[in-house]
Amino acid sequence: MLEVTGLTAGYHGGTVLHGLDLSVPAGTVHAVVGHNGAGKTTLVHSVAGLMRPGSGTVRLGGRDVTGLPAHRIARAGIGLVPQGRRVFAGLTVAEHLRLSHRPPPSGGASRPSVWTPARVLELLPRLGERRGHRGASLSGGEQQMLALARALLASPSVLLLDEPTEGLAPALVQQVYDLVTTLAGEGIAVLLVSPSPAQAVRCADRLTVLTSGRAVLRSDGDLARADPTALNAALELAPAKA
Ligand SMILES: Nc1ncnc2c1ncn2[C@@H]1O[C@H](COP(=O)(O)OP(=O)(O)O)[C@@H](O)[C@H]1O
Ligand SMILES: [Mg+2]
Repeated sequence: MLEVTGLTAGYHGGTVLHGLDLSVPAGTVHAVVGHNGAGKTTLVHSVAGLMRPGSGTVRLGGRDVTGLPAHRIARAGIGLVPQGRRVFAGLTVAEHLRLSHRPPPSGGASRPSVWTPARVLELLPRLGERRGHRGASLSGGEQQMLALARALLASPSVLLLDEPTEGLAPALVQQVYDLVTTLAGEGIAVLLVSPSPAQAVRCADRLTVLTSGRAVLRSDGDLARADPTALNAALELAPAKA
């Protein structure tokens, strides 16, 4: 469903991603694990159209979307839950939901699952309880749910989750991974990036370890769950950037 080939990307300071290949079939979770500075957000932003790749391709259901502007990539079916959630401090939960609701374009590629505010609130009932509260007064976990809700309301085929459990209490971390599993079960292709191998293995069908913008290890999720030695070793070999 999502297919990235030979992706390079960087900033004026230099290249960050050095020819990355990865694919995420519909209904599966692909976790990219790497230390701070490995290039995870650069990857997610390059796929989402928030920055232009230097070379390589991003395909969505066979359609080449490389280098399209972010709003067109979003309309094509790629949803982003950004690092740090980025909810609006002054808008209520209900306002966020209303503004984010984008029924999929008619005549476009079919979506695995169509989401409405009512359906999102069924999945994330806490947001219903907090419907009148502004972004600034939500807990980290509630903000994360809201960021997820916002992305779902465009009925994506692909979800990009950039460190969705950053700063969350352990009970909420598990809740987020359960949600990720549920969404993959709906047929969504999930690309999740995380600095924590222990967390990423919980829901990943496939894993890629990213070190300095290169895939240094690929693993099957079941294999990594049964024996995380190789996964941990690949990360230990990678120097963490300050
Ligand atoms: N806007 C930017 N301008 C210049 N360099 C950047 C920018 N954003 C990230 N970088 C650099 O790109 C590298 C990868 O960053 P990033 O993709 O944010 O890593 P991660 O998300 O894995 O922590 C780092 O060396 C970082 O300093
Ligand atoms: Mg990041």
